[in-house]
Parts: sequence; structure tokens; C-alpha cells
Amino acid sequence: MSSVCKEFRNRIIVALDVDGSEPALSLVSQLSGRVGLFKLGSQLFSAEGPALVREIVRQGEKVFLDLKFHDIPNTVTKAVLVAAELGVSMLTLHASGGARMMSAAAVALKSLATGANRPMLLGVTVLTSMAEGDLAQVGVMPGVESQVARLARLAQETGLDGVVAAASELIFLRRQLEPGIKIVTPGIRPAGSEVNDQSRIATPAEALRAGADYLVIGRPITASSNPAASLEKILSEL
Ligand code: C5P
Repeated sequence: MSSVCKEFRNRIIVALDVDGSEPALSLVSQLSGRVGLFKLGSQLFSAEGPALVREIVRQGEKVFLDLKFHDIPNTVTKAVLVAAELGVSMLTLHASGGARMMSAAAVALKSLATGANRPMLLGVTVLTSMAEGDLAQVGVMPGVESQVARLARLAQETGLDGVVAAASELIFLRRQLEPGIKIVTPGIRPAGSEVNDQSRIATPAEALRAGADYLVIGRPITASSNPAASLEKILSEL
């Protein structure tokens, strides 16, 4: 393993967007100790459910459960509490679900546990796959930047620990948010790799320079024939 410092590895989140336990656990074993967290999203969770989350946690790994809850306050609060019981370290909900939804979930989570055991609750602002035109199509007219800023401020005001936002928004977001708010950035593409369905992308170095606390990296690592080597290459380029 290269000597890239541990503090930096801990800021890398690998998105396990695969169909089942076998490929997921294979990625976990190849990348264990090299990254900070493993992210399970709706694809893998729909296939394998809480059992796989428990197994990855049992193996001593940190799990980011990225189910992007968006529902009425009561339903989201209950979902967040059940997810927290699985032992995950990070959870997401859509900030566009509104202040009452976010605040109810944040208050419930804070009452459940304290300190290091409590998962970080993050608000998704605008998906990194969405461009200006996509937002306009769903009736959001002010544009990506102001929508991201509006939702991030709301997430902060309602007691969330952080937000998910693209690298292109980081510099102005950092100016608007309190210093302690965590920013998690997907849409990471090392130079020369496939863009896939992402839209607002950046290289790992650009995202870190702009102020990301954590980088979510999926296909540039997981679709590689040698995920560990691809990860180390990304790290070495930093
Ligand atoms: O493969 P790729 O690097 O594009 O994966 C990005 C991951 O980050 C996916 O799991 C996706 O669900 C997630 N994500 C995102 N944009 C957001 C929030 C999460 O791409 N705004």
C-alpha cells in the first residue's frame, strides 16, 4: 500500500453500487483499510437489505447508508432511527423534503445516541447528475447554484451535520455555511475517466481544494478490473 496518509484515505467513500453481497463483499475485502467508508445505496440495499449492512459493520468497516429519504416527517424520522440502529456512520435524506422533515429526523437522531456512535445526518442538495435544464423541467427555476445554497442553508438551520453537494458548488457553499458543517462530494472523476451519467463532475484534487470533507467515488474504482490499484492511482495523483 502506498504511504498516502491515513487522514486522507479516511476521507474517501467508495460507492458500492453493485447488485449483490458477493461483489460488494469482494470490493470491501479488496479495499479494507485503504478507504474511510463504504456507501450502500438503493441498488445494493434493495438487493440485500439490512443483513448486508450489518455484515459490513461487523467486519469493522464504516458504512454510509445512502437511501436519500424523502417522505413525510414521521416516516423519515422512523426510517432514520431504524437505520441508525444498524450501526451505520452516515445517513442521507433529501433536503428538498423540507425543514419540518429534516428537523424532526435530526432531533430524533440526537435523542437516540450521542457522540461518536451517532450517525452523521446529511442533506442531499441537488443530485450531481442534474444540470440547469433538468431542474427547470421539474419546476425549479432559480438555477443549480441558488437551489443548492438554499437547501444547504436549510439543512444547516434544521440541525443536520452536513450536506451532499457537487464540487462546483463548494467554494460558494463554504462561504455561506458554518465551518463545522461537513460537505460530502460525489461526481468525482479522475482525469481521463468515463463521465457516465454524472453532470457536475470534478477530479479528486479539485474537489478537495474546493473544500470537500469527503469524496464519494464509485465507478472509477468499482468498475475497474483492479479496484485497489485504481484507488491507489487516484491517491498517488493527489
Ligand atoms: O459511480 P459514481 O462515482 O458516479 O457514483 C456516485 C455515487 O454518489 C452514486 O452512488 C450516487 O448515488 C451518489 N450520489 C450522487 N449525487 C448526489 C448524491 C449521491 O452521485 N448528489
